[in-house]
Amino acid sequence: MTNKYMYFIANWKMFGGLNSLNSLHKVVKFFKNFKNNKFSKIIYCPPNTLIRPMSKKLKFTNIEVGAQNCHENLSYGAFTGSVNSKMLKSVGAKYVIIGHSENRQEGETNKLINLKIKSALNSNLKVIFCIGETQKEKRKKITKQILNKQLSLGLHKIRNKKNIIIAYEPVWSIGTGLIPKSKQLFETISFIKNKNKSLKVLYGGSVNPKNIDQLKSISNIDGYLIGGASQDSKKFIDIIKKTYN
Ligand code: PGA
Repeated sequence: MTNKYMYFIANWKMFGGLNSLNSLHKVVKFFKNFKNNKFSKIIYCPPNTLIRPMSKKLKFTNIEVGAQNCHENLSYGAFTGSVNSKMLKSVGAKYVIIGHSENRQEGETNKLINLKIKSALNSNLKVIFCIGETQKEKRKKITKQILNKQLSLGLHKIRNKKNIIIAYEPVWSIGTGLIPKSKQLFETISFIKNKNKSLKVLYGGSVNPKNIDQLKSISNIDGYLIGGASQDSKKFIDIIKKTYN
């Protein structure tokens, strides 16, 4: 049982077409009548192609929309295939995920992530900043060093952090069904919070209706970044409901 303000962020990754928006009404209806909706925030981060239609659909609801990445340049430019934070803002995004491990694996460096975060804040987007260690780093017992580095380089020279939310996502738990041991997760979240006082810290990686009972008992987590399970409205609603039960 929790009585804290919690975030539920849906990361749809490269999934979904216009017809996927049909399932949103279930979540809208649920959330409108949910007794704890004042203590929770739902944010959908669909692929860029769905930001506009989704934000139109969610306009008169208490659910917000975000993007999954952005280019670091604030002005238009010859960057084929890229979209910057201003463009995302202009089609209805209020948030953007930056530093997701799937992007880091494709070569996104801490330095680039820092530039992206700065550009997003400049465009008045709120940032969901992802950090997390790989399986190999975990085995080597260097998780704290890795997180420290990701945090200090990613947030370099960013003084005002009030529009940043951190999502701790161990790479080895994303899409694998594995989650960290409760004690370990509590300690890692505390470590992140001690370094960044007053920042909200979410957990992400295989969050689902089955493991939410275990996760919700970890008192310092401020919400969840949910991939796979967020594409299924029933599972997504179940996660939210169970968090408060
Ligand atoms: P998952 O993804 O819930 O499918 O593990 C989480 C994420 O990558 O943000």
